[in-house]
Amino acid sequence: MNLHIDHAKRILVANDRGGYTVPTDRLYPFQWNWDSAFVAMGFALYDIDRAYRELERLTEGQWADGMIPHIVFHQPSDTYFPGPDVWRTKHTIPTSGITQPPVFAIALRKVHERAGKHAEARTLPLYEAALKWHRWWYSARDPERTGLVALHHPWESGSDNSPAWDVALARVPTTTVTPVMRKDTGHVNADMRPRDEDYKRFIHLLDTYAACGWNPAKQWEEAPFKIAEIQTTAILLKAGEDLEHLARLFGRTEDATEIADFNDRSRRAMLAQWRPALRRFVSRDLISGEDVQAATQAGFIPLLSLDLDKDIADALVTEMKTWSKGLKVAFPTTKPGVGSWEPKRYWRGPAWAIINWLLIDGLQRNGHPDAGEELRMSTIAAIETEGFAEYFDPVTGEGCGGLGFSWTAAAYIWLMRV
Ligand code: GLC
Repeated sequence: MNLHIDHAKRILVANDRGGYTVPTDRLYPFQWNWDSAFVAMGFALYDIDRAYRELERLTEGQWADGMIPHIVFHQPSDTYFPGPDVWRTKHTIPTSGITQPPVFAIALRKVHERAGKHAEARTLPLYEAALKWHRWWYSARDPERTGLVALHHPWESGSDNSPAWDVALARVPTTTVTPVMRKDTGHVNADMRPRDEDYKRFIHLLDTYAACGWNPAKQWEEAPFKIAEIQTTAILLKAGEDLEHLARLFGRTEDATEIADFNDRSRRAMLAQWRPALRRFVSRDLISGEDVQAATQAGFIPLLSLDLDKDIADALVTEMKTWSKGLKVAFPTTKPGVGSWEPKRYWRGPAWAIINWLLIDGLQRNGHPDAGEELRMSTIAAIETEGFAEYFDPVTGEGCGGLGFSWTAAAYIWLMRV
C-alpha cells in the first residue's frame, strides 16, 4: 500500500460529515459544489457507494429552478462567513445563492462507469439532476444564447480571487448592507487571502442578488458583475459531453439531442475566444463588452473540452511552458512576473492540484501526453513533499492555505491510479 494514498484516504475520512466531505475543517465547514465532484471521482476508484453518496448529498441542495448552489449548509457552523443568514435563500435546506463550476456530470460519468452492473438505477436520478442544472446554465446564464455562460460573482468561478476579476470587480461598490465579519483570516495567514476591500465587493454582490430574491431574470438585469467565462464554459462543455454520453446510454434520445445542441453552441463560442497573439483563450466582460486580458490559467482550460487544431494546441502548450519555466511546481494560476502575480495569495499565482488535473486531461486529449505527464509528476511530487495542502507556491513548492484538503487528496488518488 502506498503510504500517501493511505494518507489521502484518511483525509477524506476525517473530512466526512455524514455522506459528504468538507473541503477542510474549520476554513470550509460545509459541502462545496465542485470540491465534492472532484472528491467523488477520487472515491470512485475505491468506494463506489461513497462516491454516489457524495453526489447525492450535493443534489439535496438543488433548487427548484435547477441551480446547484456553491455551498450546501447541511449543519450549522460558526467558523465561516458568509453563512445562511447572509445568503437569505429560500431552499428547503440552507444553501448559498450562487453556483460553481459544473464538474458534477464529469464525475457522474466516471462513477457510473466504475459502478458496474445495476448502476443505472442509482445513476439516473443524478443524471436528471445534472440535466436540470445544465438547462439552468443555458437559460439563466446565457439568455442571449451566445454559447458562453456568465458568472455573477467571482466565487462562481471557483477561482475566487483571480486577477481575471480585477477590472470588473473594481466597478463594484464597497458598500454593503451586511456587516462584513471575515472568519477566513482567523484560520490562515491574511497574506494568502483576499484583501478587505475585495471582500466588501463580494458581499455587495451578494446583497444585490438577495435583494433580487435570487430570481435569475432579475439578477441578469441588475448584476454589476457579468463575465462570460471561458473556464466555466470549458468545464460545462466537458460535462455536457459526458452527460450526452449518459443520455445515449440510457436511451434518452431527446435529451441527447438537446444536450448536443448546448454543446455545439458552446464549442463554437469558445473557439471564437481564441486570441492568437496571447496564445490563450479569453473570457468576455459583458458589462464593458471587452476581453478579459488578465493572464490566468483559465485561458488554457479549453484544452479539456475542445479538439483543437494542431497549431492552436501547440501554441497553448508553448505558452504554458513559458509560464512554467524555472518553477518548482507548475501550473501557475497567474503568469509569473506580471503585475498581479502573487505566488502565495490564493488564485493569484499558486498551483492547484485540481486545476492541474483538468489541464492534464486536456493535454492528453489534444495530443500532448508528454506535457500532461510532466504536469502529473510535478503535482504528485509537490503533494508527496508538502502534504495535502489547499494549493502550492509554484516558486518554493511550499504547501499553502488550508491543510488536510479533500480535493488535493482526491486529486492525488486520481493522478496515481494505474
Ligand atoms: C475557495 C476556492 C473554491 C473552493 C472553496 C472550497 O473558496 O476558491 O474554488 O471551492 O475554497 O475548497
